Amino acid sequence: MMPNTFHVGIDLGTSRTSITTSTGKRFTSRTCVGYPKDVIAQKRFNKPYLLGDEALENRLALDLIWPLSQGVISDNPKALEATHLVLKHVIETVLPEYRKGDLIYAAIGVPAQASINNKKAIIEASKNIVNKVLIVSEPFSVAYSIDRFDECLIVDIGAGTTDLCRMHGAMPEAEDQLTLNIGGNFLDDTLRQALLAKYPNVQLSAQILRRIKEKYGYVSEKSDPIVVSLTEQGIPKEYEITDILRECCLQLTDPISKAVQNLVGSFDPDFQARLRHNVIIAGGGSRLKGIDIAIENSLKAYGGGEATCVQDAEYCGSIGALKMCLEMPENYWQQL
Ligand SMILES: Nc1ncnc2c1ncn2[C@@H]1O[C@H](COP(=O)(O)OP(=O)(O)O)[C@@H](O)[C@H]1O
Ligand SMILES: [Mg+2]
Repeated sequence: MMPNTFHVGIDLGTSRTSITTSTGKRFTSRTCVGYPKDVIAQKRFNKPYLLGDEALENRLALDLIWPLSQGVISDNPKALEATHLVLKHVIETVLPEYRKGDLIYAAIGVPAQASINNKKAIIEASKNIVNKVLIVSEPFSVAYSIDRFDECLIVDIGAGTTDLCRMHGAMPEAEDQLTLNIGGNFLDDTLRQALLAKYPNVQLSAQILRRIKEKYGYVSEKSDPIVVSLTEQGIPKEYEITDILRECCLQLTDPISKAVQNLVGSFDPDFQARLRHNVIIAGGGSRLKGIDIAIENSLKAYGGGEATCVQDAEYCGSIGALKMCLEMPENYWQQL
């Protein structure tokens, strides 16, 4: 039988890894690996590690590693292996028809700083899984997914980092990119501190905070009152969080607006207006209500601008990577 060639696009994010294939499949998993904490945990799971959502669900008995949580490969000695395992996991999940001898080509979008500083390590991590690999910066794969190679500014708000990238018709260079070490996780922490400052006995977990943020988070001027049910010593109570929530969200979006202003301000002056009017917001954080208007407002002093959020925040990075996988000429690839 002739070997098959599979093309896959992967978005290897700080919190989530998504994959889209040439065979029409898609899948997403958390970018984490959990290793059993001790002998008892090993007995319970009867395997050397757990992946993605399964690891998260069993986190009490595991040492969880998020290899890219800070936007670069972490210095945990297991980080490289964990990256390898996450890539292997998402690929195996979507290509059950893979047979020995088949070829897999993968384009992988990674956080901007990882694409600059850890390119070799990520190529290393994809060895023995794929036959050919192309590593690009995530915001670039977002641009590719929506065919935007002309002047535009991609703002990819992830969990660990927010990556900004100026597009100007050619491959973006290091000076076109800017990474802020804040994202959805930072907002969760900010919200935790703000809630505890006001209600010191309220019981919060990472999951509860994330759920509140994802359901109600907003930076628009106005909102209906937001009331959530939380517990104190197990007893449920209603808490009004309308203003607290907005202030926390602004602590994430204000620095992002500043970064947008910086990348616009340092661009070729003839093209600044084009950039201002083509701001594209992607990543999970793009779903914060009112973020597009907030960024537009912050550009008013610069002559005004227009910002839009991508349609498919979850998969657009991997869709762009798949497109690149199918289109990029040979000399951009790394043979493994
Ligand atoms: N509706 C929403 N409102 C605000 N934040 C959201 C929403 N949905 C997801 N997020 C946040 O987006 C972040 C994940 O974004 P993602 O682009 O998948 O991250 P990464 O690429 O860094 O893995 C998480 O912090 C998540 O809580
Ligand atoms: Mg991302």
